[in-house]
Amino acid sequence: MQLPRPRGPVSERVFAEMVTPDPKAVALEPFARTHDVLADDDLQIALWALYELSFRGFEDVDADHEWSPGLLATRRVLEEAFEAALRDLTEDAVERASQEHGRTAEQVLAVIEDVDDPRLARYLQREATEEQYREFLVHRSIYHLKESDPHAWAIPRLDGGPKVALAELQYDEFGGGRPDRLHSTLFARALEGAGLDPSYGAYVDVVPALTLATNNAMSFFGLHRRLRGAIMGHLAAFESTSSLPCRRYSGGAARLGFDSRVNEYFDEHVEADAVHEQLAVRTICQQLVDQDPTLQRDVLLGASTCVRLDALASAQMLGAWHQGLSSLLGTPQEEVA
Ligand SMILES: [Fe+2]
Ligand SMILES: [Fe+2]
Repeated sequence: MQLPRPRGPVSERVFAEMVTPDPKAVALEPFARTHDVLADDDLQIALWALYELSFRGFEDVDADHEWSPGLLATRRVLEEAFEAALRDLTEDAVERASQEHGRTAEQVLAVIEDVDDPRLARYLQREATEEQYREFLVHRSIYHLKESDPHAWAIPRLDGGPKVALAELQYDEFGGGRPDRLHSTLFARALEGAGLDPSYGAYVDVVPALTLATNNAMSFFGLHRRLRGAIMGHLAAFESTSSLPCRRYSGGAARLGFDSRVNEYFDEHVEADAVHEQLAVRTICQQLVDQDPTLQRDVLLGASTCVRLDALASAQMLGAWHQGLSSLLGTPQEEVA
């Protein structure tokens, strides 16, 4: 994959520095607290590319630049603004769940149930056009082509029951011993089945800031050991809000007559994620906080971030479609296929 297109002065500067690090570069100015970080395309694409250095990297960036002090300093400025925005987004849900429920598992379920918005899944099931369904797959491709990778960063940071349960869950996500069953591979086949490009990163340039933010949240939580509670809370929310929507997505793909490879991806998740939900909420999150009570609020931060950011991204997608527009950047709907 090549570096994506910059979307403003911050990403322009970051991408130039990725190609040629400048030891004398002046640190990025902190962002004002009022800045709308989650909707800022320039900031989100810069952060996404910085994180990508720790996943698959770019052909036009030296692999060693993952550890460039200048790039890490820039990433820190972006992350400080991003973390503040995520904490603002989730604060009330975290507080309410902490007050109203005693056990971690119940608190996690409370922040998940705080957002109950099946509109996107229903729309895809019953009304979406082929083009809109393809757009949905394009948004989802940014994560699903590296499905579960950000959560895997937590494995060496856990111990005992949570580690064993995470390994059990990840064993399924990573194919259960069969490369052709890797969930990221199943999703690549779904993209192909829908007539889309299955290559990693193919659609980064056309997804808006909120879609990038949903991905950046996982990378941010996953890459920082201090936030191991948040990445596990995120996992719990992700798995708990997957099974039912996947049934609807599969129904939508069948209604539109897509190739069976699209259904196969979602059908795989209807049953698997019902099991994963139990593992993630009851075993991983509950036992993690039992082992280390200081992680309680971060577990809820992660869970609430997952559902609230997803709700924002879903609302933006539906909002565009209801106005007869594409939900992607600079791409008329007919060009998506
Ligand atoms: Fe999966
Ligand atoms: Fe899963």
